[in-house]
Formats: sequence, C-alpha cells, structure tokens
Amino acid sequence: MRLILGLVMSGLALGAARAAERTAPTSAPYSPDLAEIMLSAQWRHLKLSYAGAQKNWPLAEFEIGQMRKNFAEAATYYPKFDDTAVAKLIKEISEPALDEVAANVKAKDVEAFKKSFSRLTEACNSCHQAAGKGFIKIRVPWRSPFSNQEFTPER
Ligand code: HEC
Repeated sequence: MRLILGLVMSGLALGAARAAERTAPTSAPYSPDLAEIMLSAQWRHLKLSYAGAQKNWPLAEFEIGQMRKNFAEAATYYPKFDDTAVAKLIKEISEPALDEVAANVKAKDVEAFKKSFSRLTEACNSCHQAAGKGFIKIRVPWRSPFSNQEFTPER
C-alpha cells in the first residue's frame, strides 16, 4: 500500500514538475527572429502577387494588411539589425512601395498593380543589399506553390 501511495505521489510530483516546465518560460518576453518575420513576409509577397494577378482584390487587400504587420514587427523589434537601419529603410522605401500597391488594388488596376508590385520587390532587395544580404534575392513569382488555396476571386 505504501509502495503504491509512494508511486502515486512521485507520479503527481513528476506531473507538477512537467507542468511547471511547460509554464515557466511565459515570463520571458517573446521576440520573433527577423528571419522568421521575413519568411512570413515572403509568403505574403507571393500570395499578394497571385491575388493581384487574378484580380482577387479582397484577398490582395488582406495580404497587404498582413505584410504591413510584418514590416511593423520588423521595425519594432529590429529598428537596427547589425548596422542596417531597418526601421528607417522600411519607413522610407518599403512602406511607400506598399502604399502604391495598395492604391492600385483599391483602383482595381491590374497593370498598375503589376508595375508597383515589381517596385515593392525591388524594395525588398534594396534592404537585403544594404544589410549585406544581397544573396537573398526576391523576385516576382510565376507559379504558386499553394495548391491548397484558391486565388481566383469568388463570383
Ligand atoms: C528594411 C530591411 C528589409 C526589408 C524591407 C526586407 N527585408 Fe527581408 N531580410 C532583411 C534582413 C536584414 C534579412 C536577414 C535576417 C538575418 O540575417 O537573420 C532578411 C531576410 C529575408 C529572407 C530570408 C529568410 C530565411 O530565413 O530564409 C527572406 C525570404 C526575406 N528577407 C524576404 C523579404 C521580402 C519578401 C521582403 C519584401 C516584401 C523583404 N524581405 C523586405 C531585411 C529586410
């Protein structure tokens, strides 16, 4: 009986220790890695491109909003990354480029959208070059890897 009780008690103690292990790190503030924010921006860049090309304007608008959050997060957590003025470059180059894309989405102008989307893509690369990461070269996509998402608009 004592043995069983002992086993139960140690089992409980172990359970409590495990629970503590799982909850302990919550006091540490979460700060996302810049490369993770960028991976997220890369998906948005791709989805935005397809949404625009397919004239799915509500989806394009949604993806622009998501990319704005990526930029805001990058600027907040990494105003400076190594020696690169990330927040400044975002404010002066990337956000105006994204604003232009947003204006063309609002105007539902697919040709203007494509042109501004190329400029947005150049803005991605201009910061990568400034940061000494010119080998991370973003381009306008020509094929979607998202076979699980429909990009044509609802009718
Ligand atoms: C203001 C600066 C800046 C802008 C604008 C910017 N990036 Fe980046 N990006 C970086 C930096 C710096 C890194 C390298 C991070 C590191 O070394 O951990 C990076 C890395 C990346 C990576 C590599 C992530 C990985 O782990 O493989 C991708 C992909 C990327 N960016 C996509 C984009 C896209 C798409 C855009 C535009 C929509 C963009 N970036 C705009 C600064 C920027």
